Amino acid sequence: MDNKTISESIKKVNTGDFGSICFEKVEGNTLVDFDGNEYLDFSSGYGVTNAGWHREKVIEGIKSQIDKLSYSTLAYPTLPALQLSELLLKLMPVGFSKCARAIGGADANEIIFKSSIAFNGKKKVLSLDRGYHGGTKSAVSISSGKFNLPRFPSLIDYVHAPTPFCHHCPLGKKKESCNIDCALMIDEILKKDEEIGLFIMEPVIGSGGAIVPPIEYYSIVQDICKHHKVTFALDEVITGFGRIGAMTAMEKFGIVPDAVSFAKGLSGGMIPIAVALLNQDLAESLEKYQDVTSTFAWSPLACAAAIANIEVLIEENLPSEANEKGEYIVSKIKSICRKYIPESIGDIRGAGFLIGIELKKSGSDEIDFELTEKLYNKLIKNGLMVSTSWLMDVIIMMPPLNISYSDIHKGLNIFEDCLKEV
Ligand SMILES: Cc1ncc(COP(=O)(O)O)c(C=O)c1O
Repeated sequence: MDNKTISESIKKVNTGDFGSICFEKVEGNTLVDFDGNEYLDFSSGYGVTNAGWHREKVIEGIKSQIDKLSYSTLAYPTLPALQLSELLLKLMPVGFSKCARAIGGADANEIIFKSSIAFNGKKKVLSLDRGYHGGTKSAVSISSGKFNLPRFPSLIDYVHAPTPFCHHCPLGKKKESCNIDCALMIDEILKKDEEIGLFIMEPVIGSGGAIVPPIEYYSIVQDICKHHKVTFALDEVITGFGRIGAMTAMEKFGIVPDAVSFAKGLSGGMIPIAVALLNQDLAESLEKYQDVTSTFAWSPLACAAAIANIEVLIEENLPSEANEKGEYIVSKIKSICRKYIPESIGDIRGAGFLIGIELKKSGSDEIDFELTEKLYNKLIKNGLMVSTSWLMDVIIMMPPLNISYSDIHKGLNIFEDCLKEV
């Protein structure tokens, strides 16, 4: 394709607001577009290629499976599917009895909605007001307002709870003296509304701005859910498989929910695959309805990719790399920002390799959207592939976990050069 055809063709694909670059290939952790421009990857395709791009072991895993069996109907799981489910259940905390097969994060979440309804008969969902749970109709309905109304009328009934966001506390409290009131609000909401059967949240709110709730939040809301007999689920689609400096947020924060979803980093994007892990009650309830997901869920190729990908993450100890290197990047970004824009540092935060940079107008606490957009565009133009939150109020960095320190320094130099210019 020549450049003119590419720019015409781009308009025919639903790219949202960001579709101006067409990538041709990746070399190491550097993406290359059709014009030969290079972009050092600090985004991992929005938190997908956790183990790095085109890992040899994953490619070999897929190749050896392709020669044996490339597809099987959902009714007959294949050997790689059984191996993957054993591996997942071994990796996860005790308490899950079933791996429900899915292709992407949204349909894994749909399985959680369905199993919870099947278990307790309650159709209403409680979620966080800055959360994102996917693009299918139910998942988008319970996601933050930017995604559902007024664009699409909601398909399922939902209630939004305030996001546990200490830097901009929705209750106007100070972290030191707040008593985690945002968690206690869940009790108030559930007391008032007996139709709610499920509370689902991202353990670190990803595309909502790399927001890490206070550690006490999880156990408080879990106990509240238990008390009200409401299913408590985690959406680990973005946090899972090493991204936040542990294999899972469950491991990092010591939580065992009733259900949890994974996608993105499970196979690292090589072949789509996702899963909803369910406890026994949810699994048995769903089974009564002979629920199925999708024709392509857990193809043997996707399972082979996921198994090899998980092995790479474990063998190379990549989750703890993300922890160590994530802290390093955060400290460097803080010192660069202090040097050039001391008045505009809002908050630089995150967990592992899910990092958020929030910039504010100097002399106030207001987000500086203009500066954020300018910096984002400049970073991309200068060859550092970063992402933003959906509100465009936070620059998000999610490098591949195997990124080298020399690439980290290269990226930080680009960041410094761009910051000097904006
Ligand atoms: C937390 C979270 N849940 C669900 C999804 C949806 O996943 P998918 O796009 O694979 O359906 C995403 C996607 O970004 C996500 O970040």
